[in-house]
Amino acid sequence: MEKSYWEKIAPSYETEIFDVLKNDKNGKIAKAIQSFASKENSIIDIGCAVGKWIPVIAPIFKNVKAIDISSKNLKIAAAKYSSYKNVQYERIDMSAKKIKNQKYDAAICINAILTESLPKRNLFFKHMTSFLKKEGHLVLVVPSLESKLFSHIIANKWNVDDAKNDVPPTGKRAISQMQFIKNGVTDIDDVPTKHFLKEELELLLQLEGFKVQKIEKIEYDWSTEFHKAPKWLKDPKPWDWMVKAQLK
Ligand SMILES: C[S@@+](CC[C@H](N)C(=O)[O-])C[C@H]1O[C@@H](n2cnc3c(N)ncnc32)[C@H](O)[C@@H]1O
Repeated sequence: MEKSYWEKIAPSYETEIFDVLKNDKNGKIAKAIQSFASKENSIIDIGCAVGKWIPVIAPIFKNVKAIDISSKNLKIAAAKYSSYKNVQYERIDMSAKKIKNQKYDAAICINAILTESLPKRNLFFKHMTSFLKKEGHLVLVVPSLESKLFSHIIANKWNVDDAKNDVPPTGKRAISQMQFIKNGVTDIDDVPTKHFLKEELELLLQLEGFKVQKIEKIEYDWSTEFHKAPKWLKDPKPWDWMVKAQLK
């Protein structure tokens, strides 16, 4: 998932990319952000895309910095949310070796650490930490590997969406998929995407110097995984992980 991918998808972002804000029916993410919001503080939205979280954060923080690797996404966000005068947009690649030093009281990063590349993810985590002041707050949302495997297991056992007719990969593709899955990388819409285990997230954030306060499921309808989910399929629903953490 490179810059070119996100630039290409920008014009059709609304139809192509899963909307976490809309699908978080209980508003758990917004509530987590509200728990540390202050009109005296600043926040950075890392991987803001077309700015869906701007209307949530701009009214409750003094200053908002919205960053993304895609300049097209940033342009769309800036045009759509021009009424919020306290938002500043900047193109930053969170996987670049070096980025400009800047500090905020809080950060959100919602389904943006998705790259299959471990070196790029390492840089992403390092820069995310560097954006926060001491005791700064973080709300991080990432795809769950447990949830993804759970969906696969259900699909195979009950042949959901004719899973039994899926053609298994062969040759190089099979080898790369095997390497990927060992590292928690599995496809979303044919794009290799990093998925995280709860324990992995906890460890990664602790090693970055965070105190992890809460790890919660953000649950979605089964229709987000399957075209024809069996009627009996209820709980547990598919989920992303949301982490609420504070830098020590
Ligand atoms: C799935 S979208 C999520 C957007 C938004 N946070 C939301 O919840 O609606 C992921 C975003 O992360 C951005 N992104 C991916 N890799 C990035 C990187 N290395 N640096 C900055 N932004 C990145 C993409 O351009 C894309 O806009």
